[in-house]
Amino acid sequence: MSLLEIRNAHLKLDGKNILNGVSLSVNKGEVHAIMGPNGSGKSTLSYMLAGRDGYGLEEGEILLDGNSLSEMEADERARSGLFLAFQYPVELPGVAGMSFLREAVNSRRKFLGEQELNHLAFVKEVRKEASKMFVKDEMLKRAVNVGFSGGEKKRFEILQMAMLKPRVSILDETDSGLDVDALKIVSDGVNDQRNNDNAIVVITHYQRLLDYIVPDFVHILSDGVIIKSGGPELALEVEKNGYTGLINAA
Ligand SMILES: Nc1ncnc2c1ncn2[C@@H]1O[C@H](COP(=O)(O)OP(=O)(O)OP(=O)(O)O)[C@@H](O)[C@H]1O
Ligand SMILES: [Mg+2]
Repeated sequence: MSLLEIRNAHLKLDGKNILNGVSLSVNKGEVHAIMGPNGSGKSTLSYMLAGRDGYGLEEGEILLDGNSLSEMEADERARSGLFLAFQYPVELPGVAGMSFLREAVNSRRKFLGEQELNHLAFVKEVRKEASKMFVKDEMLKRAVNVGFSGGEKKRFEILQMAMLKPRVSILDETDSGLDVDALKIVSDGVNDQRNNDNAIVVITHYQRLLDYIVPDFVHILSDGVIIKSGGPELALEVEKNGYTGLINAA
């Protein structure tokens, strides 16, 4: 049984077909990369998985550990171990980073039947993970993402991931807008989370990220369907030749 299974996913937005039969199996321990032209449906796929309002499936199903996600609200999916790092991280005015992380971690722990972390244990854990992401205490006191630079937002997303220890993480263009040093920090942070019990799906336009986060599989999404899957060499082919040949061949 795959950890994450997407079967024949169809989705419309405002009457327009956006996902047209996406199928994907992601097993424990695997990293998958999804590439594809602008507008091909990559972010839509990630919103659909995360359970964003209005992104319900027209047809098909999604299973996490064999359990259907379709009937679950977004927060329930998050608690059960699905994590989405947004292409455009959402600002949460009035919600300090520290409180946000504590809330998220404790509700995940509750779901897992674990005790809430006490204040000291929590702060220690945040400090450890935050230092890896070069997130300073001062930033944790600020409202989540409000006034954060593009790169700071992306580092904060990976800090969330490190704290939540999700089963499946979907990282939507987590590399976009990062300077070279930040790209290394974020990639190291993601690689740090790789283990035999979880899975990571990275959405990216750039082969460069995949030099750092080496995927087991690469998929090309075009017009709401996966037109080709392969290994890391597929990303190199895209980098060299673009999408036109692949789309025409499909
Ligand atoms: N509410 C909506 N109504 C109609 N079409 C929509 C709506 N929201 C998104 N779309 C369209 O869905 C398509 C897929 O968008 P999506 O954001 O998933 O693309 P993407 O593959 O993530 O692109 P990018 O690489 O630019 O991030 C786009 O053509 C977009 O305009
Ligand atoms: Mg997108």
